[in-house]
Amino acid sequence: MQNRIITLDEFIIRRQKEYSLASGELTGLLRDIGVAAKIVNREVNKAGLLNILGAAGSENTHGESVQKLDLYANDKLIDCLSNSGECAGVASEENEDFIPIMPVDGKQSKYLVVMDPLDGSSNIDVNVSVGTIFGIYRRKSDPSVACNKEDFLQKGVDLVAAGYVLYGTSTILVYTTGRGVNGFTLDPTIGEFCLSHQDIKIPETGNSYSVNQGYYLKFDVEMRRYIDHCSDSNFGLRYIGSMVSDIHRILLKGGIFLYPNTRKYPKGKLRLLYECNPLSFIVEQAGGKAINSSLQRILDIQPTQLHQRETIAIGSPKMVDEMKAFVERYSV
Ligand code: AHG
Ligand code: MN
Ligand code: MN
Repeated sequence: MQNRIITLDEFIIRRQKEYSLASGELTGLLRDIGVAAKIVNREVNKAGLLNILGAAGSENTHGESVQKLDLYANDKLIDCLSNSGECAGVASEENEDFIPIMPVDGKQSKYLVVMDPLDGSSNIDVNVSVGTIFGIYRRKSDPSVACNKEDFLQKGVDLVAAGYVLYGTSTILVYTTGRGVNGFTLDPTIGEFCLSHQDIKIPETGNSYSVNQGYYLKFDVEMRRYIDHCSDSNFGLRYIGSMVSDIHRILLKGGIFLYPNTRKYPKGKLRLLYECNPLSFIVEQAGGKAINSSLQRILDIQPTQLHQRETIAIGSPKMVDEMKAFVERYSV
């Protein structure tokens, strides 16, 4: 039982000291993300007041234009990442192209961020949890010139760090730098993320599965057989429709999340760079597994486009292995 509060900032600085080669840049970048998360959290918590404060696209009572929350989150994250010079560029779900960030005070950063600023955004209007997903890469090109698209098209195995923020019943930031997964719950009274979930390990197996069962008839037969097996085994079906929320539950309680190919989405719906990869990196770090419908490890997939989609099965290792066995058995 931990008897002293450890804040996110303290934790990342401590971790930096354990690693003699660290330059402090990654520490700075993680802190920037922590600040952005608090700003987004503040706004997400006001979302229910939209009717009073003004709907997106309109002007609020102060005459300020009201933005959609996913665009607001995108702007705030980019602002926070641009201020300190610890980030050389951002690829976001909300921007068609990547955004290069100019050096601040001559500081040339070697890091890049990929992000889904607000995940599950259709849930905002109905007061259901949403999240932010991020991944950090070391750029491949020379830090003295602007970053390029190839810098972002790196495999998930090359992630330096990844994390998510879940704006739920409480707000929690979970991240890993490849040495374990830790979670920090925001204490709103002091405005600090405090270490609450140390060295998270995903349960080997679970008794719930998470998939949009409404698309059942549109899935391939082998995926349907696995879903039938989950149902036959009396597993509970849990699907929030915010991947961050579904993955967070699975990380703590065990289970499997599936977004297979459908007729409408032959490669699934979720994005490889800023949804599948960061969450797969975290889940693997916690002892879980993540593969696509072709049974390839997600983190080994070579991306070719910033916004490419990928199918995914992710969660407790035994459940992912079992799903794999079903697909192998039933695929023609
Ligand atoms: P986003 O809000 O960033 O577009 O992501 C929504 C994603 C993901 O969070 C969720 O798991 C999935 O879309 C739900 O899709 P379906 O409604 O097709 O099940
Ligand atoms: Mn998303
Ligand atoms: Mn989004």
